[in-house]
Amino acid sequence: MTTFKERLRQYGDLINCALDAAVPEENKTKQSAVYNAMRYSLMAGGKRFRPVLTLEFCKISGGNVEGAMPLALAVEMIHSYSLIHDDLPCMDNDDYRRGKPSCHRQFGEANALLAGDALLTTAFQMIGRADELSAGARLKAVAYLAERAGAAGMVGGQVIDLSSEGKPIGKETLVEMYALKTGALLQAACGLGVLAGGGNDTMFELAGQYALALGMAFQIVDDILDVTGDEAVLGKPVGSDAESQKTTFVTLFGLDGAKEQAAYYTEESKKILTKFPDHEFLMDLTKYLLERDR
Ligand code: IPE
Ligand code: IPE
Ligand code: MG
Ligand code: MG
Ligand code: MG
Repeated sequence: MTTFKERLRQYGDLINCALDAAVPEENKTKQSAVYNAMRYSLMAGGKRFRPVLTLEFCKISGGNVEGAMPLALAVEMIHSYSLIHDDLPCMDNDDYRRGKPSCHRQFGEANALLAGDALLTTAFQMIGRADELSAGARLKAVAYLAERAGAAGMVGGQVIDLSSEGKPIGKETLVEMYALKTGALLQAACGLGVLAGGGNDTMFELAGQYALALGMAFQIVDDILDVTGDEAVLGKPVGSDAESQKTTFVTLFGLDGAKEQAAYYTEESKKILTKFPDHEFLMDLTKYLLERDR
């Protein structure tokens, strides 16, 4: 029997291979600066659990994993773009990402901005060309990903995050911020999997609820690791939130309180998972994301 860790690694290998094929090699065209910056950030590593969610939700919805791969890559490209922009001096101003100098430190701010733009647009190109899926499924995927990644979703969460720096904010605002900046893209990751797999409306709705609870847990653990993490393992700076005067679950509830909240949202997400068939891998993934050190 394949263990959880083995399956996660197999998924990771498939995803890395497909990403590698989707973004041009270092090249000498007039656009080489942007291609090289895109590739640098995208291929620097990362846990890849968003595309794993897409592939696994496709599988448990009755679809085949290869058909969903372009959608999984699209989600990871949008995530990578969001990290490139998140690190810029005008946002979190972080110099280190995925174990390497952040994109703007390596290629300059303008190229980092453009690499993010290009990853965002390439994501939609991938979906347009997902030719194993029906035109209807592709259209729904484009609309849902755009909605969850945009001003009503991830971008909107980043706006609340930046406008809240240095200000006292309460739990309600923080929950709203996390649901958008982190939960929304996870909703897209899971929802696109259901769409690719031909799952019904109930599955799509439940996948969104699961993703929202998982996103809360995930972002709270991210806050905790920003305080307790080891930079060499984490691959990004520790103490970034304090430096930017962010309110986080750790500043509001302390480390133990934040850990309790992360465990609470993890339990909530697992309850939703029980409503899906063949949910063992997703259960293990959910637990793994709570216990992670990077
Ligand atoms: C970091 O996401 C941004 C957050 C939403 C907290 P990840 O922790 O998934 O980053 P990578 O992809 O593994 O680098
Ligand atoms: C990430 O939040 C949210 C994004 C949409 C990128 P953070 O700013 O906490 O992510 P890290 O800690 O820099 O990865
Ligand atoms: Mg940020
Ligand atoms: Mg950041
Ligand atoms: Mg963080």
